[in-house]
Amino acid sequence: MSKFFDWLDKQFKIRSPHKRFFQRTIPPNINYTYCFGGIAFTYFLLLAMSGLLLTIYYIPTEKEAYNSVLLITNEVPLGWVIRGIHKWSASLYITFIIFHAIRVFLSRAYKPPRELNWMVGSLAFIASMASGFTGYLLPWDQKAYWATEVGTSMISTIPIAGKYIAYLVRGDSHVSANTLLRFYALHVLYLPLITIFLLWGHFHMIKRLGIASKY
Ligand code: HEM
Repeated sequence: MSKFFDWLDKQFKIRSPHKRFFQRTIPPNINYTYCFGGIAFTYFLLLAMSGLLLTIYYIPTEKEAYNSVLLITNEVPLGWVIRGIHKWSASLYITFIIFHAIRVFLSRAYKPPRELNWMVGSLAFIASMASGFTGYLLPWDQKAYWATEVGTSMISTIPIAGKYIAYLVRGDSHVSANTLLRFYALHVLYLPLITIFLLWGHFHMIKRLGIASKY
């Protein structure tokens, strides 16, 4: 087996960058709470993989959305498992981001030189919450519809620009087929790309600055 990997490495030369990536020095006095960010990222990967599978059967139209979710749950082999994984990893992802942010706050790792990483992390959190909000509409049932109607109505209470922002978000004066399509595009394309970009920056800064020593 090791001969096989030696041969593979001769072709690909992946061993040394791989070592550089995984073998990093970390402060001696850290504990398991420093895993919260990594756990959140693991849930992010699970979300992306299960979400990709759901797009195979989900149809983002007024007529078909609800039925396609029923189909995934009741007819598609293991569809209910994939949907369950997506739902549970979404909740656990947000939970662990919050735990992670609390750990960073309590260990005062937000202080310079890591202040920009705190801000980038906060933006990734906002993008993740927006993913949750847009995903909630997709089953297109009564709960999803009215939650989005209430959520987007709250936007219209912003002074002066509120009404216009709410219209832009819904693509209409109320939640409609336009909103469903808009939320679908945001949920499966724009927000994941934004989150991936922000997390890339987040990890790049961690790589450059290292993990902060515990105070
Ligand atoms: C959106 C999902 C997020 C993921 C996947 C993520 C992931 C990570 C990982 C893997 C680490 C290194 C290990 C650790 O400290 O746990 C880290 C460090 C850090 N994160 Fe996040 N993070 C996220 C969101 C946030 C948020 C919301 C904040 C702050 C509001 C934040 C601020 C930081 C800071 C300042 C560090 C450096 C900590 C240190 O050096 O001790 N992150 N993040």
